[in-house]
Amino acid sequence: SLRQSLRTRLLAWYDQNARDLPWRVGPAARRDGMRADPYRVWLSEVMLQQTTVPHAAPYFLKFTQRWPTVFDLAREDDAEVMAAWAGLGYYARARNLLACARAVAGQHGGAFPDTEAGLRELPGLGPYTAAAVGAIALDLPTNVVDGNVERVMARLFAVETPLPDAKPALKALAGELVGEDRPGDWAQALMDLGATVCRPKAPLCDRCPLAAACAALAGGAPETYPRKAAK
Ligand code: ADE
Repeated sequence: SLRQSLRTRLLAWYDQNARDLPWRVGPAARRDGMRADPYRVWLSEVMLQQTTVPHAAPYFLKFTQRWPTVFDLAREDDAEVMAAWAGLGYYARARNLLACARAVAGQHGGAFPDTEAGLRELPGLGPYTAAAVGAIALDLPTNVVDGNVERVMARLFAVETPLPDAKPALKALAGELVGEDRPGDWAQALMDLGATVCRPKAPLCDRCPLAAACAALAGGAPETYPRKAAK
């Protein structure tokens, strides 16, 4: 099926092209059964809602060196964490971060919940973060949709509805491609494809594993997707 061939091609591409990011467990180690620590995945995803991968990486390293477990972060003084967050912006997120760490440490014995619904109940964990932690750390077949994934879907299926109205349809399209096999790799493969190949401007379609199936490329102007409402 189209779905199966898209999945096979993108996962094979990820095996060769996954970015080496400090919060990741690489595909080879994952095949050996290694899983990312939910605390590290959660921390990286909260930071990445705020900023780009290159900007977040040094903050991630600083935080995880200083506070290697959720218990370490939970018992730190607010002011220390706020100071370490400086430069990432939007302090409300740092406050939520501490509230969440304290809930996990105090009410869950230091273990993040192991379902998407359980993750959603933690302070500050919205639908995106719960889906991302669920997929990447727990290998749950959640639908992880950020701006990168929306762009990939808009192009692959040449969705003509402009943003933001198209968001529910783009999410539904992404959901149809999620599967039980390697959900964490799948989510991160879509994000890496969006960040490095299916870029907002000047997409590198000659390097795209999904090019043969891409409706926007077939139409000749992939960079014009996702459509945007006239201002
Ligand atoms: N952007 C947000 N989360 C990401 C992840 N886990 N990998 C790559 N890019 C991301």
